[in-house]
Amino acid sequence: MEKFIIQGGKPLTGEVTISGAKNAAVAILPATILAGGVCVIENLPNISDVSASVRILSEMGAKVTMLDKSTLEIDTSCINSTAVPNELSRQMRASYYFLGALLSRFGSGTVAMPGGCNLGPRPIDQHLKAFTSLGATDSVEYGMINVKADKLEGAHVFFDTVSVGATINAMLGAVRAEGQTVLENVAKEPHIVDVANFLNMMGADVRGAGTDVIKVRGVKKMHGCTYSIIPDQIEAGSYMVAAAMTGGNVLVKNIIPKHLEPITAKLERAGAMVEEFDEAVRVTRVGALQATNIKTTPHPGFPTDMQPLMTVLLSVAEGTSIITEGIWENRFRYVDELVRMGANIQVDGRVAVVEGVRELLPAPMRAADLRAGAALVVAALAANGVSEIDEISHIERGYEDIVEKLQALGADITRIERPSPPNSAAV
Ligand code: EPU
Repeated sequence: MEKFIIQGGKPLTGEVTISGAKNAAVAILPATILAGGVCVIENLPNISDVSASVRILSEMGAKVTMLDKSTLEIDTSCINSTAVPNELSRQMRASYYFLGALLSRFGSGTVAMPGGCNLGPRPIDQHLKAFTSLGATDSVEYGMINVKADKLEGAHVFFDTVSVGATINAMLGAVRAEGQTVLENVAKEPHIVDVANFLNMMGADVRGAGTDVIKVRGVKKMHGCTYSIIPDQIEAGSYMVAAAMTGGNVLVKNIIPKHLEPITAKLERAGAMVEEFDEAVRVTRVGALQATNIKTTPHPGFPTDMQPLMTVLLSVAEGTSIITEGIWENRFRYVDELVRMGANIQVDGRVAVVEGVRELLPAPMRAADLRAGAALVVAALAANGVSEIDEISHIERGYEDIVEKLQALGADITRIERPSPPNSAAV
């Protein structure tokens, strides 16, 4: 029952250092199982999705030692279970990566069947298509999904839809299969390349990550390694939007500017200035924001995870913007909260028509999901007056030290704990 209290209306200024990428970390942690030895993983973000993955590894028998705030040593030689504890796997959807890693190393794996979520239905048929093409069978019992195989053999998999999760799970499944696997119509996000690089550091032979076709030659043995996770493209984009929204001047550090190109292009179109350096970008804005249209598509298109943040920005731009959500069925739920702040946005299915208003007004709000929550934080930072945001656990799944980072940029934000209402414990 924690919430953020934000006194908005101040331009953000200063420097912010971006943490490791959540969506790479939640795949790389299960992938350490393939080493059957010791991996040192650096630049891990300190967020609740990472702690849930680490707890899963520990409960399955891995020995995990914290070397510093963002570095863990993980010894997976002692894993003694192929079933992910039910309670933990339900805490995060990305626990499906344990299926691929366990199947690959032990020939079987079990996790809780992922249900729908706040973004709409989230099927895993393409993950299972890859596993069964490699020779596995799958079954669902008591809400748990099991995959098993006596032997995995290289295969040709053509994905029906471009899926980040299925691409990564297929790579995990294929790295120890006998022979070559060809994966076509795969996702190309920076974290796909990061996971492939990590697998190769452990002795795998994965080529083509970052293109439409990935080829995996199965290897007999893999080993531990030291690996540093790439910076979080969406966390970086979120601070870039916050700088532009508040008319600020922020140096966003520890990033790979190439990964941010679709975001940079849209911010410039909307009237912000983005100056690129080797491992940083500076975002400033002095003039008015301008409307622009956005359609989210798989990488290298505009990322869906930035859609709520850009909608907030465009809600105060001059003119009309059309936002089309191309990935998730239900990613405009936060719009009701923005409308309560005075935004003029009409949603019809996957399209939102945003008529820019002069300003947003403070309001009490509720974070519907991770990126929607981050978007509301940015909206509140720009609104003159005090806003409150509830259900911030969604935000803390993906943003390390968000309060401290924003405070260092001059924001007036505090996190407060509220006592739980009576009789709420068993709900
Ligand atoms: N899809 C299928 N079948 C499948 C898998 C996906 O039909 O077997 C569909 C989905 O329903 C969706 C589309 O394919 O319409 C893309 O889904 P994808 O599998 O790419 O998404 P994901 O792997 O479940 C990851 C990120 C999401 C991000 C999406 C798209 C992780 C842990 N999550 O999800 O991140 O929105 O890719 O880029 O990597 C977030 O960080 O806030 C977040 C939601």
